[in-house]
Parts: sequence; structure tokens; C-alpha cells
Amino acid sequence: MNALADFGRQARGDVVRIHLGPFRPYLVSHPDHVQHVLRGNWTNYVRDGMFWKPLERVAGNSIISDGPGWESSRKILQPLFTARYVNSLAQGMVKAIEECLEELTPHARDGRPVDIGEELARMANRAVIHVLFGDKIPLKDAERLAPAYATAASSFTFRLFMPFIPYSVPVPGDRAFTRAVKTIDSVVVPLVRQALRDPGEGRDIISALARARGQEGDGSGEQQMRDDLVSIYGAAAETTATALTWLWPLLHAHPDVTARLYDEVDEVVGTGPVDPEQLPRLRYMKAVLQELLRLYPSGWMFPRMVVAPDEIGGTRVEAGSQVLISPYVTHRLDEFWDRPMDFDPERFAQDTGERRHRYAYFPFGGGPHVCLGLHLFYVEAPLLLACLLRRFRPVLVNPGPYTAVPAGSVRPKETVELRLLPRDTA
Ligand code: HEM
Repeated sequence: MNALADFGRQARGDVVRIHLGPFRPYLVSHPDHVQHVLRGNWTNYVRDGMFWKPLERVAGNSIISDGPGWESSRKILQPLFTARYVNSLAQGMVKAIEECLEELTPHARDGRPVDIGEELARMANRAVIHVLFGDKIPLKDAERLAPAYATAASSFTFRLFMPFIPYSVPVPGDRAFTRAVKTIDSVVVPLVRQALRDPGEGRDIISALARARGQEGDGSGEQQMRDDLVSIYGAAAETTATALTWLWPLLHAHPDVTARLYDEVDEVVGTGPVDPEQLPRLRYMKAVLQELLRLYPSGWMFPRMVVAPDEIGGTRVEAGSQVLISPYVTHRLDEFWDRPMDFDPERFAQDTGERRHRYAYFPFGGGPHVCLGLHLFYVEAPLLLACLLRRFRPVLVNPGPYTAVPAGSVRPKETVELRLLPRDTA
């Protein structure tokens, strides 16, 4: 991971080629060039080719693909992920998160450390499941989804890094991957069928989608809904949980930030309960999250295939070649960030007036494919932190260092363990 960032830093924003065996994608990191690919000339840079193939096998032709299938999904899904719509689901998310935290209380009492990566995944999973499926999914099915996704994500890493190996040649992870997709389908497909038969009035995404897709009446609804739900779940749960896992080593290394964050939670939330209406007042927390995503943007790399020959910053890129966009790299460029390796939420705290290029910071991508879950993240993540911090004072067991490894999202190689001291005794 750091080799990639170093490579980008040495290139100082120039377009450079990376040598991955027979395969030589372009690394594009200058904000002007990122803007060109994601927005200015975005129709020439599509999600296709070897990097996207493994994803297609789980997500089908959906919101995370490209072309007409993506466009129709985006049109239907966009209104369900506005700040307003997401806010209307916030109370339910608090309930889901609090239920998970309740289960941690015995750990806190006994002083047993918890694997916070795993716990955050469980919480993000429940919150996202609530948003997507409301109360339509039995708990035992919901609990089968997370491990199946984890298997799918880890078992396609080999293909991600060896994209030139054809699918007719079996590679490690293929069988586990197929089994995981089967499990995901066995949970999601019956729910889609049921929702299409009877969408009801719920605000959860599956009901809203069933109402929208049902009206199309062309029979394509079922597959498209399955593909979209599976894609959204995949894009939502892991990204949020892995990003928040990085927070704890950073807070441990920055007691001043921690103190300010805790003060804010004490002042706004107190001992709770957490009310979504408090979110706008958790301003420092938002700056902490923004800075967290600068250093550890879960979507650390997203590729595009060049449709017609083009020029990016004076470098000619050929049709059919791949262009890699990486916020992990751009967010670490000295040319655009002062002390880029330092964790400093002040950069985002209000009124500092720091001016920067729109594409110097893009943890959620940009242009027409900009992350659909941006508002959801800024509701779910602060709720999750507020719920956690109103109960506990987390103490990092191993101060690190933690190594960033590239997987579906950028995660720490080592387990991050926390001791959760009950807040009133800390
Ligand atoms: C830390 C949290 C997250 C990060 C860093 C993140 C990052 C990103 C990035 C970089 C993209 C653009 C990919 C590209 O251009 O190819 C993207 C797209 C997307 N994200 Fe997120 N995401 C996060 C959370 C979520 C959540 C909570 C959802 C749930 C709805 C979500 C759903 C999506 C979807 C559906 C797309 C595809 C949008 C499209 O192409 O039209 N993401 N995300």
C-alpha cells in the first residue's frame, strides 16, 4: 500500500505507468487529471475490463457497473439516498446500533478486549441491513450475509491482482467465491421476490425499490433489484467498518484530538440516548471523520477502462488500457497537502477557510458515479461513534504500528483490539 503511495509521491502528480507483470495500467493522481477522468470526460473512462470482472460476478449489471444498466439504477436509487431520505431512517439505525452495543456490555464489565474491526463490521452490517431491508429480513439470515461478503471480498483478491488470468483457469479463492455468492443469493433473492409481490408502504430501500421497479412491469425488476441490493450492501457495510477501524490507532496517537472529541460528545449527547437531531452539532466529529477518510479512504483505488484514445496531462492513453484512480495516493501528495502524513482534523474543522482543489480530496469519488452512500456514511458513522462513546471510553490494547493492506477496502493487517471501559468509571 505504501509502495503505491510512494510511487505516486515520486511521480508528483504526473501520469505514470505501473508494471504489474504483462499488465501496465496508468496511475492518475493529479487532481486536474482525476477531475478529467471522473467528470470532464467521464464517458470515455468506463468501469469495464479486467479489474471490474471479479465484481461483476457478484454484483451483476447494476449500480456499480456502467452504461444503461447503471444509469437506470442510479435514477431510481438516487432519491433514496438523499440527506433527507437517509435522515428519515436514522432512528432505526440508532436502534440497530444500540442493540449491538448492548451485547458488548459484558465485555466492558469484564475488561475483555474486543476486536473492534469485527464489532464495527457487525454494527455497520446491522445498520445497513436496517436501511436496505427494514424488518423484512430474519436476524439469522441477516447474520449469514456479512460472513458471505467477507469471503467473497477476500477470495477475489487474487483475481484483483492477477487480472490477466482468464476465468477458464481456476485460481485460489474461486470455489469459496462461488459458494459465498450462492449464500448471498439464497438470502437476498427470496426477499426481492416477496417485496415485488407485496412492496408495502415501508421506507426501507427494498420496499421503495419494489414500488419503483414494479411499475416498470417489464419483468427485469427482479434481477436488477437483486443486483442493486447486493451491490449497495457490498459498497456500504465494509467501507464504513474498515474506515472506522483506523480511527482507534489514530486517536491513541493524538490525545488532544481524542479529548476534544470526547468533550463534544459529552456536551451534545451526554449519557444519551443518541438522537439523530444532535448530528449537526457534532461538528468536530465530522472533521475527524473527514480527516480519517483522507488518510484511509476505504475505496482506495478505482479503475477505469479507456474507450477512445485520449490525453491526460500531456500523456497519451490508448483505447482499452486501464487508468487507476486512487484517493489514497492523491490524499498523500505533498503538492496538495501540507504535512500529508499527519492526522490533523483541523484541516476540516469549520472556518479554517483552507482552499483546496475539489479533486485533491475525493474519498467518495466524483462526477456522475460519486458515491451514493455519502449522506448515509455521514449519518451512520457519527451515530455509531456517538452511541459507542456515550457508553464507553475505548482504550487501544496494542499501540501499533498498523500496516495498511489493500483488499476490497484498505484495512489494517493487524487486529485492532480495544478495551471498552464503561464511561462512568473511566
Ligand atoms: C467510508 C465509506 C465509503 C467510502 C469511502 C465510499 C467510497 C466510494 C467511492 C470512491 C465510490 C466511487 C467508485 C467509482 O467511481 O468507481 C463509491 C461509489 C459508490 N458507493 Fe460508496 N463509499 C462509502 C460508503 C458507501 C455507503 C454507506 C454506501 C451505501 C449506499 C455506498 C454506496 C455506493 C454506491 C452504490 C456506489 C456506486 C455509485 C455509482 O456508480 O453510481 N458507499 N463509493
